[in-house]
Amino acid sequence: MLKLGVMVSGRGSNLGAIMKNISEGKLDAIVEVVISNKRDAQALRRVEEWNARADDDKKIETFTVERSSFADKDSFEENIASIMEEKRVDLIVLAGYMSVLGSKFTARFGARIINIHPSLLPSFPGLHAQKQALTYGVKISGCTVHFVDETLDGGAIISQVAVPVLDGDTESVLSERILKEEHRLLPETIQKLATNQIRFG
Ligand code: GRF
Repeated sequence: MLKLGVMVSGRGSNLGAIMKNISEGKLDAIVEVVISNKRDAQALRRVEEWNARADDDKKIETFTVERSSFADKDSFEENIASIMEEKRVDLIVLAGYMSVLGSKFTARFGARIINIHPSLLPSFPGLHAQKQALTYGVKISGCTVHFVDETLDGGAIISQVAVPVLDGDTESVLSERILKEEHRLLPETIQKLATNQIRFG
């Protein structure tokens, strides 16, 4: 049973997919804590809804830790790291966490941090990956789960799924097609880590 610390910034649909897979018994993990760097993240509302329905022992603790409350990036990330350590999480999952972690943070957790990105890395790292793919004109895109280092969407690739890019695709249509696969790939990859089918690092 893996104890997860999930970091979010926005909508939280990948967090939702993790919680759904856990509740359906498809993922041997518990979400120990969710940390958002945005207080208005929809992901936090999702957890509230989950908690409203969950038994006491299944409720998920959330923290909002905003960069603006700290003097510098290091102390901001130190605060997040200490929560993760206090909660003794086994794996940190970046699920739409929209900031690059510094080397102090990544070194502290080694290969215990993963991220999901909406492109076939190493193509199209960074923001608006789906738009980048459309602009470039690739015919196949997809999503990638990878270990996290201090580089932007760098780190060893763990798993990928490809989707076609079709004539007439808009950014939102392609994003939706990729997102569907993200919701399968991320829980599946965590399950493989939980069951030692994939090694940490
Ligand atoms: C996803 O497309 C993920 O790949 C990227 O950010 C988006 C987050 O979506 N890193 P959500 O917050 O999980 O709905």
